[in-house]
Amino acid sequence: MDLGLQGKYALVTGGSHGIGLAIASSLAEEGCHIAICSRSRERLFKAENFLKRKGVEVLSFVADVLNTSDIEKTVSGILKKWGTLHILVNNVGGGGRWGNESVEETSDKVWSDVYNKNAGAALQFTRLILPAMRRQKWGRIVTISSICGLEATGRPWYVVAKSAEISLMKSLAVRSELVRDGITFNSIAPGTVMIPNTGWEEKMEEDPKGHRAMLDKQFPLGRMGTPEEIANAVVFVCSQKASFINGSCIAVDGGERKGF
Ligand SMILES: NC(=O)c1ccc[n+]([C@@H]2O[C@H](COP(=O)([O-])OP(=O)(O)OC[C@H]3O[C@@H](n4cnc5c(N)ncnc54)[C@H](OP(=O)(O)O)[C@@H]3O)[C@@H](O)[C@H]2O)c1
Repeated sequence: MDLGLQGKYALVTGGSHGIGLAIASSLAEEGCHIAICSRSRERLFKAENFLKRKGVEVLSFVADVLNTSDIEKTVSGILKKWGTLHILVNNVGGGGRWGNESVEETSDKVWSDVYNKNAGAALQFTRLILPAMRRQKWGRIVTISSICGLEATGRPWYVVAKSAEISLMKSLAVRSELVRDGITFNSIAPGTVMIPNTGWEEKMEEDPKGHRAMLDKQFPLGRMGTPEEIANAVVFVCSQKASFINGSCIAVDGGERKGF
């Protein structure tokens, strides 16, 4: 299937690791030029070299999305170099383990930082990039939420932030002045994804039997997802073929979520 992505310009926020890097890599394999942003220069450098080997242009920006000025500099840097952007993947996020089990003991700062890192950043990138997409009458905005945005499994501040991402995409998707300019707004809700180098390997080695039992109990497929499995869905939603997918939240969770 020709996804029609050759030569498109894409930004994947938090694209230097995990799900974001897999999305950047899959879009590059379809011929997209890629911009990524994240905090660690070293990780960015590694990711940039990895992506360049796919034969596309790669831009990288050191940015902390908790700083509005870093978001502004990233978008203006892209527009200065490329003049436009076709695809925005709002991937940066997390904070699901911030705070502690007690709502009373968890500070307002945790609530606001988790919100800003997820939905707040998605909103700011989206707002800054929309004028360029409207001018060219084509755009794809995809936000990486979570099944925690669809059901109350997780710490409340993370559930609130992830469900806000879904409602942000949906509420933009019903604005006819935006979608009639050829822009679609969707979210992807991953289930638990095994990200290399985030501690899972050690857990498996420490207690292989316990880990196996947990996987069997918690996940219908007996395993977590891979970043590439999330990326496959994102790439399709970004493609020309997905022109009638707008305002959707697509769960990519191997059946982990219990709700309908
Ligand atoms: N993994 C899962 O099981 C899972 C499940 C459902 C949804 N999700 C969602 O998927 C998205 C990606 O998660 P992941 O598990 O792939 O995370 P990850 O492996 O920790 O990667 C996060 C990426 O974002 C960057 N980043 C983190 N904080 C940042 C900040 N303040 N400013 C700029 N960049 C920042 C990181 O680089 P630096 O650290 O160098 O900044 C890295 O490139 C998140 O929105 C998450 O909520 C993940």
